[in-house]
Amino acid sequence: MNYKVSIIGAGMTGSTTAHWLAEREIADIVLVDVVEGMPQGKGLDLLEAMPIIGKDVYVVGSNGYEETKNSDVVVITAGLPRKPGMSREDLLTANAEIVRKATLESLKYSPDAIFVVLTNPLDTMAYLTMKVGKLPPHRVVGQAGVLDSARMRAFVAMETGVSVENIHCYVLGGHGDEMVPLTRHSNIAGIPLREYLPADKLEAIVNRTRKGGGEIVNLLKTGSAYYAPSAAVAQMVEAILKDKHLIVPASAYMQGEYGLRDIFFGVPVQLGRKGVERIIEYTLDEEEKAALEKSAAAVRESIRTLHSLVEI
Ligand code: APR
Repeated sequence: MNYKVSIIGAGMTGSTTAHWLAEREIADIVLVDVVEGMPQGKGLDLLEAMPIIGKDVYVVGSNGYEETKNSDVVVITAGLPRKPGMSREDLLTANAEIVRKATLESLKYSPDAIFVVLTNPLDTMAYLTMKVGKLPPHRVVGQAGVLDSARMRAFVAMETGVSVENIHCYVLGGHGDEMVPLTRHSNIAGIPLREYLPADKLEAIVNRTRKGGGEIVNLLKTGSAYYAPSAAVAQMVEAILKDKHLIVPASAYMQGEYGLRDIFFGVPVQLGRKGVERIIEYTLDEEEKAALEKSAAAVRESIRTLHSLVEI
């Protein structure tokens, strides 16, 4: 029997996640969205691609949650984009209601699922999923770090001409402007990035990474990035279902790690069948600690706002 993954929110990121998962024959997929006919249409279209690529994967779309029954993993990408004139608080309130419903409805049918959250503001929405679902911390993880690190790796590859496979970058912290690209821990085939690249080039890469999401938004004009975010989710889902014990940067619940408590925050986590198996703690220098603390303050503020706007 195939594994089953339900994706709540069949927009650009949700449906592209389904595409990556189906192409790699990782799981059967259910797409759920509020727009009538859209998840059904996308699901059927993707199902009809399977004979061509030779993958035995079942894909279905729905406006309800019954079809999600017994999912191994639930991915939450449902949400509203920030529209002109909308404050961060407005967006937070709107997406909090959507994520709350997605979590509770999914849990009714899949009480043992692992949750991978993607809806922004990411760290706050992952926190909300854990709290409203009354879930143990290891069953909720937010996608951000794989994406931010992949962007940095892509920029380093462009600058150096070295294969992306040799490039290892680690971006920690909250998924926002204060994210922390750890240049000291990043390397090309074991050679520290700081030795490989001149300081000004490295600084430019760090800045471009921090603004990576905005760069795509500005180019697209409508909507935000979805290929790389969905590829990141697919990698995390695969690591969970195949029990790979894969270490990736991702948003996890802090219980004293890095001196942080009661927030979701981007750190290196080990992913396996039970979800977050372990949080890895790097030894950080004072500058790195200060950058992480600044980033944590921004996440703490967002979670405080969440508490003031919605009851959890
Ligand atoms: N239940 C299910 N789906 C919903 C709900 C809901 N209550 N509310 C909205 N949606 C759906 C929308 O109908 C839409 O199809 O969520 C989908 C979101 O898709 P897009 O607008 O295409 O946005 P996308 O680019 O996929 O981003 C989704 O992930 O990376 C984050 O910041 C991004 O929060 C955003 C989310």
